[in-house]
Amino acid sequence: MYALFVYYIDRIFIKLFVFFFLHGGVGMRISVKFGVAEKESVEVIVISLFENVRKIPSELDPLNKALGGVITNLLQNKDFTGKLNETIMIPTYKKSVPKRILLVGLGKATELSSDKIRQAAGTATRIIQEKKFKNPLMLLYKTEYKGISIEDVTRTVVEGVILSLYNFTIYKTLKKEDKTTINNFTLIVQKKDVLAKIKSAVKNTQIVAEAVCFTRDIVNMSGSDATPTFLANKAKEIAKKSGIKCRTLSRPDMKKLGMGGILNVSRGSSQPPKFIILEYNTKKRNNETIVIIGKGVTFDSGGISLKPGKDMDLMKADMAGAAAVLGTFKAISNLKPSTHLVGLVPCTENMPGGSALKPGDIIKYMSGKTVEILNTDAEGRLILADAIIYAKRYKPDAVIDIATLTGACVAALGTFTSGMLGNNDELKVRVKQAGEKCHERVWELPLWDEYYELIKSSIADIKNTGGQYAGTITAACFLGEFVENFPWVHLDIAGTFLVEKDTPYIRKGATGVGVRLLTQLILDWKKLPDARKKRKK
Ligand code: BES
Ligand code: MN
Ligand code: ZN
Repeated sequence: MYALFVYYIDRIFIKLFVFFFLHGGVGMRISVKFGVAEKESVEVIVISLFENVRKIPSELDPLNKALGGVITNLLQNKDFTGKLNETIMIPTYKKSVPKRILLVGLGKATELSSDKIRQAAGTATRIIQEKKFKNPLMLLYKTEYKGISIEDVTRTVVEGVILSLYNFTIYKTLKKEDKTTINNFTLIVQKKDVLAKIKSAVKNTQIVAEAVCFTRDIVNMSGSDATPTFLANKAKEIAKKSGIKCRTLSRPDMKKLGMGGILNVSRGSSQPPKFIILEYNTKKRNNETIVIIGKGVTFDSGGISLKPGKDMDLMKADMAGAAAVLGTFKAISNLKPSTHLVGLVPCTENMPGGSALKPGDIIKYMSGKTVEILNTDAEGRLILADAIIYAKRYKPDAVIDIATLTGACVAALGTFTSGMLGNNDELKVRVKQAGEKCHERVWELPLWDEYYELIKSSIADIKNTGGQYAGTITAACFLGEFVENFPWVHLDIAGTFLVEKDTPYIRKGATGVGVRLLTQLILDWKKLPDARKKRKK
């Protein structure tokens, strides 16, 4: 009895804690200013350099001179070679110049990519944080880096800074000295004419990067805290702050509509399921309509087809697709593009229990289609199907779903590429390009008619598993069965939703994958040339 009391008090405390501290930002200002590096008497200035440069860039000459040639000395003696993410801290201890120079390597100039800039910015930021500096400067000494425009450089730098500072701490008892110390991170440029461009890039990127942190926070939370009801409340919170529309359907509404997937998957759980509907630009319904759908399984035990114990804890993050959709809405509602955007997020637990869905059961969808359940662990596709059917009422110009759907996707593509399948070539190209632009890359797998044969059932219209092979494809075929004549792309993020160890700008845990990609896709949106193409059957 006492233990139970303590348990509940504990839960209430965690809930309150989560309520007050889950803000999704890193609480730091990023500013931009014009200045001359050697005249800044700050605690630290970050300067990036390419690998194996014989001569330092001319823009750095005055600083190098002011420091008695220390940078050239370091390079000549190979104490710093400029390899990607290599760093060295140079103390100067002089009054009129920066107190320390933090050099960070960008790798070979000929191999520069925007992700390398993001990594280098992240690496430098982590060091600054570890050393507890409060007001660092970062020098952008060129107006273009090897064909990458100053705006794009700024964007990736700001992402690197904010994303690398993200740390999931809501369940940790933090000591005072563990807290983030950076107050103001300043980008400094030595030319005035680029200032305006950089400022607007900073503002927009900060919005996106903080949305990624928001998504990471909810993906990292425990399954018992980030429940369907919690996600529904988060969606309402986002909507309230930004004036977008939000509705959530509960079990009775789902029953009225005949949402066979989510109603059946939620049968074994004591958490009520929620179907979240977000709508941005409700007054511009005639504009291009994009529907984004996210899988919100807040804990996937497998259900009666129970998963093995090893790594089952990771299945608290089986709502990473849902969280990506919420994060995208957070970003979009601040960036204000002209598209009409709808978010559909079916949320439920997948649990075993006396009333749980069983292998062998037949379920029926609102479209009339029947499905034979062979494995209750193939639950994601079941709830996504409800959302795909629901999407039709918006007469969408494009539908994109994002889901931690299949272990097979991790086997096929590994952990830094998401799977992409769909019915419209132009939409797939767009998604691929958006992914490359923000370095959330996707790779296509085929959805040929032969694969659809693998999910035919002898006693129902289709079945929810497709056998031993091509698991990612047969899962997508299942979804494809519910797609009507609208362009559709499915993203499988089972390999990319988390990282197992720290990387330069993502700490172990949730990556927030999807937010940057979906936001980019929506910001770049143009009418599709041959919209509403149907998959040949
Ligand atoms: N959520 C899992 C997929 C998953 C696995 C995501 C690992 C991230 C990491 C999904 O619901 C699932 O269990 N899929 C099964 C499908 C199978 C039963 C047909 C799988 O991939 O094993
Ligand atoms: Mn599952
Ligand atoms: Zn799942």
